[in-house]
Amino acid sequence: MGAVTPLPQSVGQATLGEVIVEARRLLEQADIETAEQEALWIVEHVLHLSPHHVVTDRDRLLSSSELLTARGLIKRRVGREPLQYILGTQEFCGLEFTVNPAVLIPRPETQLLVEYVTQRIRADQPATIVDVCTGSGCIAVSIARMRPHARVIATDLSGPALNVARQNAIRLGVGERISWLEGDLLGPLAEQKLEGQVDVIVSNPPYIPELDWATLQPEVKLFEPRSALVAGPQGTELHERLLWEASRYLSLGGAVIMEIGAGQARAMRRIVEQTPGYRFHRLVLDEAGLERVVIVERVGA
Ligand SMILES: C[S@@+](CC[C@H](N)C(=O)[O-])C[C@H]1O[C@@H](n2cnc3c(N)ncnc32)[C@H](O)[C@@H]1O
Repeated sequence: MGAVTPLPQSVGQATLGEVIVEARRLLEQADIETAEQEALWIVEHVLHLSPHHVVTDRDRLLSSSELLTARGLIKRRVGREPLQYILGTQEFCGLEFTVNPAVLIPRPETQLLVEYVTQRIRADQPATIVDVCTGSGCIAVSIARMRPHARVIATDLSGPALNVARQNAIRLGVGERISWLEGDLLGPLAEQKLEGQVDVIVSNPPYIPELDWATLQPEVKLFEPRSALVAGPQGTELHERLLWEASRYLSLGGAVIMEIGAGQARAMRRIVEQTPGYRFHRLVLDEAGLERVVIVERVGA
């Protein structure tokens, strides 16, 4: 990262066009690849403007409070805080999710999990679906909206993450449809009397191997919760434990659908072969051609 020119201390006056130019320059100096686009998004957010008006209103003079707010957000982004935490939202499956540093920012490839869950469960089916490691609730909420007859249960180890997820569900109209349970993987299901009754267990668990943590980009390493990303030395530890726990709850023919990291498919196949009661059903690649989703079916003890 090159030396970044400090932001001017005095507020002064500036037009919309001047703020965009200043923001783009500072973001470029901070090595942010999408500096131009992000400069526009920050200004749109501060001024509540449509993309069209950001282009046409370049001569508009900002008030001193607008200017202060815009410069404050630009400064946070120059410090490599993810834009989604700064603006407070991330789109997922066509829905807008609130995000803050208590939760992982939903990634586009995770939408594959929702796609494969909805492929297995018909729209009119009264199925039971469990989202383990729910974070912002993006998977559970998207599924609850697409499968109105399903009972959806979501678990997470983090209470603050569950609060974000619960608020997302309420705002997106499915607050009454999802049960939120705090605890380790499927541990919180012990009291629910769901043995042999769950149709799909879906999960995007932490899967970064411990040693890879240091190599992550600053946005991830410095700002996203480590507990949402790092699993253990291999990265597949939580997948393995989840499979062992899941066999008690899945119906025969039920599935575990899990996100994995690039290069983890071979280890996952081995884990499935060594875990009684399952067969490896399918490996799905993401748009970049990377191994991303494994689908495993319950076949009896
Ligand atoms: C990779 S994030 C996934 C969040 C969200 N499902 C998504 O796809 O964006 C993993 C989540 O798992 C939670 N978590 C980590 N270890 C856990 C465990 N042992 N049991 C339950 N949740 C756990 C973290 O708090 C975090 O919210």
